[in-house]
Amino acid sequence: MEHGLTGCRGPSLFPTGLGREWIPPTGGSAASPQRTTMLFPHEAHLSATAYDFLANLVYERSRIRLGPDRQTLVTGRLRQRVQSLGMADYEEYCELLKSPEGEDEVDSLIDLISTNHTHFFREASHFDLLTRQLLPGLADRAVAGMRGLRFWCAACSSGEETYSLAIVLAEFCRLRPAVQWHIDASDISQRMLDRCQQGIYDGDKVSLPAPEFLERYFQRGFGERDGYYRVKSELRRHVSVRYVNLFQDVYPVPLAQDVIFCRNVMIYFDVPSRKILVDRLTDQLAPGGYLFVGHSESLIGIRHRLKTVGPSVYMRPD
Ligand SMILES: C[S@@+](CC[C@H](N)C(=O)[O-])C[C@H]1O[C@@H](n2cnc3c(N)ncnc32)[C@H](O)[C@@H]1O
Repeated sequence: MEHGLTGCRGPSLFPTGLGREWIPPTGGSAASPQRTTMLFPHEAHLSATAYDFLANLVYERSRIRLGPDRQTLVTGRLRQRVQSLGMADYEEYCELLKSPEGEDEVDSLIDLISTNHTHFFREASHFDLLTRQLLPGLADRAVAGMRGLRFWCAACSSGEETYSLAIVLAEFCRLRPAVQWHIDASDISQRMLDRCQQGIYDGDKVSLPAPEFLERYFQRGFGERDGYYRVKSELRRHVSVRYVNLFQDVYPVPLAQDVIFCRNVMIYFDVPSRKILVDRLTDQLAPGGYLFVGHSESLIGIRHRLKTVGPSVYMRPD
């Protein structure tokens, strides 16, 4: 499947005074309904066999483990999708997924069942640690090597984490303007990647550690756009957004990353999958580079080659 960021094209949003119309994000999926609604009984039941098939397929493709306790959640999330495809029941949906024509639908399925909760400066101590302790040394090394800092936000959801990092880096560079930097932001959910690429957020959710960041890094919407903020292009131009399944064969992001954020996603994986992932992310780091995982995801119980430097923060030894 081609994972183009189609949802990101369109008129320039948040123009300063050009009076163009802006349509707020609808939250619609890249996989929009293809057929009109037909009969789908409200009480349609997801059988244990169909659920097992779906859970196995999701695991095989994404390593997201759907336990038996998730059946109600999955049923709820799939109902509208199956209905909008004009199907009579979940069995018909499973048949589509088994067929060669259903290949793209597997991506939509994973997109639908993935949990995307995130917010700006989530687990704030990580951003403090970066600013106070890690960035000066990383920047010295990058400048000495005549290269830019490389960051990878490896399960970025709708982008709040990526732009929190971008703000931290931009702030750092106010004092060290010679330092170049770039962030690769990736996720398995195309719907989330579209939102990350757009960088438009409901003002109520833009919660930042310093009030001046809002004006410095966001454009305020007006008219129909009132209440929304868009990350300024000066920040967005430092970010590349792309589809990456953490379990795909080859990662389409550069090697020798200085920092990888892979937070609040491993909780959805089983221990063998976490081990594989941590190994691969370690290979993707530069010697002396750092891996950040979520606060509830310490690597205890997993054999790895990293050195602990703080809560849920690890370094690849030189
Ligand atoms: C709960 S969000 C975490 C977002 C952000 N890292 C944070 O900590 O706020 C988890 C994200 O992981 C993504 N995800 C789940 N399985 C994945 C996989 N196999 N490859 C890449 N991303 C995945 C989901 O689509 C979702 O956006």
